[in-house]
Amino acid sequence: MTDALVIFTPSGKRGRFPIGTPVLTAARQLGVDLDSVCGGRGICSKCQVQPSYGDFPKFGVHVAENALNDFNAVEERYDRIRGLKAGRRLGCQATVQGDIVVDVPPESQVHKQVVRKAATQRDIVMDPATKLYFVEVQEPDMHDPSGDFERLKDALRDQWQIEDVTAALPFLSKLQTALRKGQWKVTVAAHKGHQDSQVQLLDIWPGLHEDGLYGLAVDLGSTTIAAHLCDLITGEVKASSGRMNPQIRFGEDLMSRVSYSMMNPGGDKEMTRAVRDALNDLTTGIAEEAGIAPSLIVEATFVCNPVMHHLLLGLDPVELGQAPFALATSGSVSLNAREMDLNQMNPNARVFVLPCIAGHVGADAAAVALSEEPNKSDDLVLIVDVGTNAEILLGDKSRVLACSSPTGPAFEGAQISSGQRAAPGAIEKLEIKPETKEPRFRVIGCDLWSDEEGFAEATAGSGVTGIAGSGIIEALAEMRSAGIMDESGLIGSAEQVGTTRIEAEGRTNTYVIHDGSAKGGPRITVTQNDVRAIQLAKSALYAGARLLMDERGVDTVDRVVLAGAFGAHISPKHAMLLGMIPDVPLDKVTSAGNAAGTGARIALCNVSARNDIEQIVRQITKVETAIEPKFQEHFVNANAIPHKTDAFPNLSKIVTLPEVSFNTGGGDGGGRKRRRR
Ligand code: FES
Repeated sequence: MTDALVIFTPSGKRGRFPIGTPVLTAARQLGVDLDSVCGGRGICSKCQVQPSYGDFPKFGVHVAENALNDFNAVEERYDRIRGLKAGRRLGCQATVQGDIVVDVPPESQVHKQVVRKAATQRDIVMDPATKLYFVEVQEPDMHDPSGDFERLKDALRDQWQIEDVTAALPFLSKLQTALRKGQWKVTVAAHKGHQDSQVQLLDIWPGLHEDGLYGLAVDLGSTTIAAHLCDLITGEVKASSGRMNPQIRFGEDLMSRVSYSMMNPGGDKEMTRAVRDALNDLTTGIAEEAGIAPSLIVEATFVCNPVMHHLLLGLDPVELGQAPFALATSGSVSLNAREMDLNQMNPNARVFVLPCIAGHVGADAAAVALSEEPNKSDDLVLIVDVGTNAEILLGDKSRVLACSSPTGPAFEGAQISSGQRAAPGAIEKLEIKPETKEPRFRVIGCDLWSDEEGFAEATAGSGVTGIAGSGIIEALAEMRSAGIMDESGLIGSAEQVGTTRIEAEGRTNTYVIHDGSAKGGPRITVTQNDVRAIQLAKSALYAGARLLMDERGVDTVDRVVLAGAFGAHISPKHAMLLGMIPDVPLDKVTSAGNAAGTGARIALCNVSARNDIEQIVRQITKVETAIEPKFQEHFVNANAIPHKTDAFPNLSKIVTLPEVSFNTGGGDGGGRKRRRR
């Protein structure tokens, strides 16, 4: 009989094979992405396929009922114990008997795609650096003496074509017990980093290991640490966890941490210890939340700004405090977790720290670039990752520029009188009626607006407790458009504005959003100092973006992406009204969520993305805000709301800003009308 035609879907790969060829063998020869951990022994069930029968005019074949062999004993046993979905076969047991069309379902693909929620974001192709392999190892023989490890290496070479294998002591110490317990059948976790020539064995389990394999993707920020626990086989995020960076006690911003290190001998070591302790704590917490053993975490990837990068790795950040801001290394770092005292994961776990771009532009910006791919964009995109330090990227296919701007913690609610972290009860949305100057707002945890029926009852549990970062941006922008605050950021007096919601506080004025004091709740206000803190932060952000636009020789950008956990909640209209971002059509402002964290996840789930990021980083031009004289000029101009000199044509199509000025410095009583620029 002639060879049979085997067609795989969805890949469309096809080839002719002798009768009796296992489907898994055909798949391997054609390079079809069909998984197998047990190497075709019928025990892992990863190789499941769905054969189709009947006429396939598209492929020009007819598949007869007997195109595959009958269910064999191995499949019957598997089906009896575990259950196979209707119509499914094990690819390693099903053999070709005639022309056949075989579908490889997504869960049987090695390089499955992890579909990300937002349509604008690309999917992650699973190809982690650490994978599981099941092997049968030769038993020892008195007449042919060799070590267990040597025979394991032979098995990996013969059964999986894996050569040049090493293992550290914690692996060797488990080896002999595992081999004997598994009756010479074991599963190993093998790691090959993007630059490794050798394969490192990280762990071993008797028999077929079915408890999974996990990795941590960590976004280590100056203020918060956010981590995702990912399944390294499916790519699924099993748990996410965040906590404050304990280094805050050594200084709120990065430069104060660098000075702490300069002024206190051993200060850097103290900060390194603090962050590593927090990471150990986070590892146990997140594993517990996901219900897995922490030892199943075999990899971690980190993204962080340069100062955090140095403090995480135990490098003194002192050089980052002064020009020319030299990094100890700007390349990526691959090492063992135990070298970093990360002792709550697998004892052989591997760590990958994404590369920094340079000076003050760190691995967090690199991770944003990996996730958002400005280097592949046809139009000119500005990406701002809003945090205590803003990472800003501008570019397209031809060139990408990056800088970091010290915005300070005001956007995260710090230094704001009624500021608080995003939690139930915090104001997140706010509107002010220009005619009455009356506010209405929504708090986290309740879908009703404050002037809607049932709001008081619905928020009785949480109360109205303060303003979240996104709320303060909306409050200021609304105050500006309602004529409560002028272009320079001055809040008018009660008489000038015409509302009793304004209270004088010494020489400045305060706008009262909500007064819960009658019921023992807080008074939620926006003070002149709050406005100043946000003005400084937004000016730093805008000036950074403007500096990159200068460098690129443009006055406008095509689109803006707001990234960062907080960026996801900012209303584009209010961000533009406040002058945080340059003027673009509103539908050209999108949110990317925690793009730095996503970059860490991509590097965790796909080993070749590590090469990509190293290449992208080399192509990014870094602009140093600290030494650019133009930065100061841009900063001063950006202090006005929305801006002193730059035009906002798209904004003026949707909002008419009142021409008010409350500057009473000239003794004219303020409130005078001013000509618009
Ligand atoms: S390859 Fe493991 S069951 Fe088929």
